[in-house]
Amino acid sequence: MSENIAVLGLGLMGSALAGALLGAGHRVTVWNRTPAKADPLVAEGAIRADTPAAAVAAADLVIVCVLDYPATRGLLEEASLEGKVVANLTTGRPSEARETASWVTGRGAAGYLDGGIMAVPQMIAEPGALILYSGSRTAFDRYQPVLAALADSLFTGEDPGLAPLLDLAMLTGMYGQIAGFLEAAALVRSAGYPVGEFTTSLLVPWLNAMAAQQPHMAAQVESGDHATEVSNLEINRSGMETLVRTFQEQGVRPDLLLPLKDAIDRRAGRGLGHEGLSGLVEEL
Ligand SMILES: NC(=O)c1ccc[n+]([C@@H]2O[C@H](COP(=O)([O-])OP(=O)(O)OC[C@H]3O[C@@H](n4cnc5c(N)ncnc54)[C@H](OP(=O)(O)O)[C@@H]3O)[C@@H](O)[C@H]2O)c1
Repeated sequence: MSENIAVLGLGLMGSALAGALLGAGHRVTVWNRTPAKADPLVAEGAIRADTPAAAVAAADLVIVCVLDYPATRGLLEEASLEGKVVANLTTGRPSEARETASWVTGRGAAGYLDGGIMAVPQMIAEPGALILYSGSRTAFDRYQPVLAALADSLFTGEDPGLAPLLDLAMLTGMYGQIAGFLEAAALVRSAGYPVGEFTTSLLVPWLNAMAAQQPHMAAQVESGDHATEVSNLEINRSGMETLVRTFQEQGVRPDLLLPLKDAIDRRAGRGLGHEGLSGLVEEL
């Protein structure tokens, strides 16, 4: 079924979203602060709106994807939101999502969804793209067939702040992995070994094997039982010491690893060296 949708914000991501909706056969009205960015979409059949308010007026579902939440609010300020569903796919903090949900519904909107896009623009409408949603379950159920044209969609809960929180948690995992990769790459480079070869043949298979342990650690985090028969904090403390000294000997700064070493030292120093690494969650 063809739906009336507005897309506000046609940066790299907003343009990809609007393009996917056009491709799925919807009537898409677009607006962007810099009007020229709408040109390629208009050539594909999108309708150009001169103001955000006009775009909102033409649609039942309003998708916003701009730089941040102040920009989101700024462009919805003049629009009549009565009866509209707003899906804000702008990245932000959970508290901003909750405030925006109240503000939007307080102005008569039929529902608010917040979204966390786990994809780059090139992945939109392709396999592997995921968007997390939270907020109005009714709005999600109503528009899930539309949202499915963008990416796999997962409704995470009625607290509008949940999708952004889970989005940021996934980014946190990614940054931790990148930090580990960069330290490993610097160490390998210091020995003159090819970093590409190391990464493909050794590091990636190792990280995949280690990632398979994380559900077990997650169960320990949930239960609070950090007992281990594998590798306790004392062993890891000693391993970290070896690592840091090796970095120093190789002339590489272990800066990205040191916060982890500090947490291990802190927990083991409090007599909890028998615990496994999951115990470090209690230090955060
Ligand atoms: N790119 C990614 O890989 C990716 C992945 C996940 C999530 N996201 C999220 O998607 C959102 C958009 O990212 P993007 O990649 O599309 O960024 P972008 O290409 O830099 O586009 C930013 C968009 O925000 C608009 N904008 C900025 N300030 C504004 C204001 N004060 N009022 C109205 N519009 C304003 C820009 O308008 P102008 O064209 O006029 O400058 C443009 O449409 C961000 O929240 C980002 O975190 C992006």
